[in-house]
Amino acid sequence: MRVHQYEKAFLWLGAIMLVVFMVALVITSVAASMHLPGRAGEVDPLTINSVEPFDNPGVREVAPGRYEVVLLASAWVFNPAEIRVPAGSEVTFLAAATDVIHGLHITGTRVNMMLIPGQISRNTYRFEEPGEHILVCHEYCGAGHHLMSGKVIVE
Ligand code: CUA
Repeated sequence: MRVHQYEKAFLWLGAIMLVVFMVALVITSVAASMHLPGRAGEVDPLTINSVEPFDNPGVREVAPGRYEVVLLASAWVFNPAEIRVPAGSEVTFLAAATDVIHGLHITGTRVNMMLIPGQISRNTYRFEEPGEHILVCHEYCGAGHHLMSGKVIVE
């Protein structure tokens, strides 16, 4: 069997690409410690409304320029639906679902999480520019899924 020279070149190209991607993966995850937003804890969805900090959803300033948003997703609302923070602030989102699986994407940012009942999702983002970002639920969660939204207003 004779392997055509171009075929050989493509095989090599494929092998080299695999090595390059593996190296890039190791560099970003180990050296630059970039990770997917992981589970930050567990919470019982049946009693979530009386468990700290989810008994008091909202925006809190935890240090100068640093905010924490405790956010609950239920069919078909985000609580709070409107989040206001000053420009330049670093915001940590602690989010959980109370009923079914929801999603949370904040447009124009890299904040993109799944909200799974029983799990706490955490993500931190710095809002540099004033403006508005839409909170979008990106997991189908029932008849009102397309109505489920909110916004972050950066002042
Ligand atoms: Cu909540 Cu879709």
